[in-house]
Amino acid sequence: MSNDTPAPAGATEPHVHDHGGAMATGANRQAITFTLNGAEVTVNQPPFRRLLDVLREDLGLTGTKEGCGEGECGACSILVDGAPVNACLIPVIQAQGSTLITVEGLASHEMLHPVQQAFIEHGGAQCGICTPGMVVTAAWLVDNQLPAERIGEVLAGNICRCTGYASIVTSVKAAIEQTQGGRS
Ligand code: FES
Ligand code: FES
Repeated sequence: MSNDTPAPAGATEPHVHDHGGAMATGANRQAITFTLNGAEVTVNQPPFRRLLDVLREDLGLTGTKEGCGEGECGACSILVDGAPVNACLIPVIQAQGSTLITVEGLASHEMLHPVQQAFIEHGGAQCGICTPGMVVTAAWLVDNQLPAERIGEVLAGNICRCTGYASIVTSVKAAIEQTQGGRS
């Protein structure tokens, strides 16, 4: 897997987020710093709090969804150091020093990622619960110039209950066509 996923535009000054969640106490918190969608962020958190909860509840990035909470559905997919991972399975301490991209960070200079644009044009989303994770994983596929033949394999960990997958596959193929000039 590639580690060279470009950080999206929109980097801001570093922030310290000190919410800590309902269970946090001063004694068990730890300062954890990572790059999130192009900006350096430090959170003061219990180290084994789920990264998904820190993203959604403390950093306000609710694009990343929770489906199963058990690593089965892919709704919580984000990129960590360029690779898709399930944020529901990762303790926030594991993000220390890493580069994170969530669905909010895929767009660049107000231009949607080709996968996002293709999902709009080809109806890749219905209820939308799976969509952010699906888009993040598909963006990884497209950005790493993988062929269309690998769509099923790469998206196997992202479950959709609505679309039957046909419109998703069509969307990802369209993004591949656009970015790779039809090479597959
Ligand atoms: Fe993380 Fe389902 S919520 S894999
Ligand atoms: Fe509803 Fe995929 S669009 S779960």
